[in-house]
Amino acid sequence: MTQHHRQPRLRRWRARATFARHLFTFVNDAVMASPHDFPTLSIVDHPLVRHKLTILRDRATPTKQFKELVDEIAMLMAYEATRDLALESTGVETPLEHTTGWTVRGKKLTLVPILRAGLGMVEGILRLMPSARVGHIGLYRDHDTLEPVDYYFKVPGDVSERDFLLLDPMLATGGSAAAAVSSLKRVGATRIRFLCLVAAPEGVARFAREHPDVPILAASLDRELNEHGYILPGLGDAGDRLFGTR
Ligand code: PRP
Ligand code: URA
Repeated sequence: MTQHHRQPRLRRWRARATFARHLFTFVNDAVMASPHDFPTLSIVDHPLVRHKLTILRDRATPTKQFKELVDEIAMLMAYEATRDLALESTGVETPLEHTTGWTVRGKKLTLVPILRAGLGMVEGILRLMPSARVGHIGLYRDHDTLEPVDYYFKVPGDVSERDFLLLDPMLATGGSAAAAVSSLKRVGATRIRFLCLVAAPEGVARFAREHPDVPILAASLDRELNEHGYILPGLGDAGDRLFGTR
């Protein structure tokens, strides 16, 4: 066949491929979960969060920068998560006169990172609320069953008086976050919010089913889980990328 005959066929093939690609994107978008499908989910879609999350997803982002970005995004998200924190009035002397101001009842706020990856979110939030206490919940996901295995639990006392911010960058199957909330509830916690960076629809659905009273704040609702329980497009293994363990 001459070059002259081959070109129209190539053009037709390219046009079909383009059409197929558009069709796939259209169908994919139509079936993709939207945050509106989940009443307990709020997305923090501030431009700075979206910008930083994109760098976080990049496989080329090194550990040091990954850690800094998790810290910064967590701080920006905490600003949203604490919008309705309880305040108490207080007197203050300005250089000119006495007036009334407000203080956050920060002593009663407790951050609870899920180990390991949740640790990366603690410092950024503490910079905003230095008097918050920090508890820890140790969980890892069994590689075969994908179910959480717990190994540590420690939170401050007077649990029933506290507001809890549970922290984990990833909500994949939802097993770890749901188990962590169950542990907190078992010791008497009633006011809990869950903060994550990337959520999968499967995880949001499970978490909302098991804990419909616990709001979820995420920086992104991603597309789906792969067959190994990893979030797509996701950002990979958050713990390994934070601590440089792979
Ligand atoms: C990751 C992540 C979550 C969990 C999410 O932790 O930090 O805790 O997986 O998955 P799930 O929603 O399906 O439960 P991992 O088990 O890898 O432990 P690590 O933080 O110690 O690496
Ligand atoms: N845990 C992670 O760190 N990443 C995923 O994509 C899923 C679970």
